[in-house]
Amino acid sequence: MTANPYQFGPEFAAAMDARDPLSRFRDRFHFPTTKSGEPCIYLCGHSLGLQPTSGSDYLQQELRDWAQLGVEGHFHARHPWMPYHRLLSEQTAALVGAEPIEVVVMNSLTVNLHLMMASFYRPTRDRYKILIERSAFPSDQYAVQSQIKYHGFDPATSLLELTPREGETCIRDEDIESRVDREGESIALIMLGGVNYATGQFFDLASITKAGHRKGCVVGFDLAHAAGNLPVRLHDWGPDFAVWCSYKNLNGGPGCVAGCFVHERHARAWNLPRFAGWWGHDEGTRFQMGPNFRPMPGAEGWQLSNPPILALASLRASMDVFAEAGIENLRAKSTSLTGYLEFLLQQAKSERFSIVTPSEPARRGAQLSIRLPRAGRGLCDRLTSLGVIGDWREPDTYRIAPAPLYNSYQDVYVFVERFLAGLS
Ligand SMILES: Cc1ncc(COP(=O)(O)O)c(C=O)c1O
Repeated sequence: MTANPYQFGPEFAAAMDARDPLSRFRDRFHFPTTKSGEPCIYLCGHSLGLQPTSGSDYLQQELRDWAQLGVEGHFHARHPWMPYHRLLSEQTAALVGAEPIEVVVMNSLTVNLHLMMASFYRPTRDRYKILIERSAFPSDQYAVQSQIKYHGFDPATSLLELTPREGETCIRDEDIESRVDREGESIALIMLGGVNYATGQFFDLASITKAGHRKGCVVGFDLAHAAGNLPVRLHDWGPDFAVWCSYKNLNGGPGCVAGCFVHERHARAWNLPRFAGWWGHDEGTRFQMGPNFRPMPGAEGWQLSNPPILALASLRASMDVFAEAGIENLRAKSTSLTGYLEFLLQQAKSERFSIVTPSEPARRGAQLSIRLPRAGRGLCDRLTSLGVIGDWREPDTYRIAPAPLYNSYQDVYVFVERFLAGLS
């Protein structure tokens, strides 16, 4: 058994902050303030990440170029808009463990999920099912059900849902694999959240991909809660596609442009059906305005429209901070910070709440989901009004996310102090 690295008391939190090599990044973000002007205890980066202080400079640059250059900005802006989305390719690839050709930032998450399913969900009479978590984010549920119906199948018989075992809160990875082994021949697509939004559970994506491919299934992941939260190695793990948003752990801003991964093995799969738009067309001939679509190789071939430069500018600001901090360094701090949150909550030995997120650090990221069956919503609202910000998910879950880029051990300490005081 490893020794417990944590101690009670505010001095410990202060000492940990003093020796935290990433603490300098805290000042690179705007913290919302309370009515009296104090910075909030913001533990909600799993929902909306904070604004980088550099964000407005990145946006101003594009606004200035637009004002001064108009349409000429496409070629003559300081960062020309025509290839602007590529400014994000290397960093995005590094963030999700991909090759640059495998990633693109475009659209929003649910749109990208539909685009991916248009290409990769190809049901046949014998193989038509989609495997998903029952507790998947509703948008994913709606998207997969609508795709099933779009292809003329019935979600009642075509949607396979994974649930935890009786009395457990999270789905066991081995149960996913054995389900795939048992029913894989009828499964067209495995589509799981990399980190489940409600429980914070991080699935074993490499093993699930392997199990799925062994049975001939297509494998895709929604990494909304994984991207920027923990390191993933999409190229090596080998899923066919993945999608994610950039307004949570990636701090791109509300509704910011999303990410998409298509494995290199499909980079030149010209025969895959896809919903096409002109920005996915071969860039060498895009402006010849011909009638026939010829896609770019790689993920860029799934683009539809010319990209939203202002949203990309905002995302660049945050991706530059991310690249500077390094996802592996962030993960090391995150593991420690979430472990500290768990340690402090457990000391309360209260029966009024329980932690549903797995206790093994390898099976979770920067989030603990606290089940509060009685009066939890009221407590969450009261804490929010005091400037302590997590979020509530019906019916009974209070989600708290210590983001390693900008949260401190003292944030976690103060949160637990106020949370426990509010419980009593
Ligand atoms: C896991 C997950 N999937 C999908 C979505 C929907 O994202 P969007 O509204 O950007 O399409 C969210 C939003 O929070 C999410 O958490």
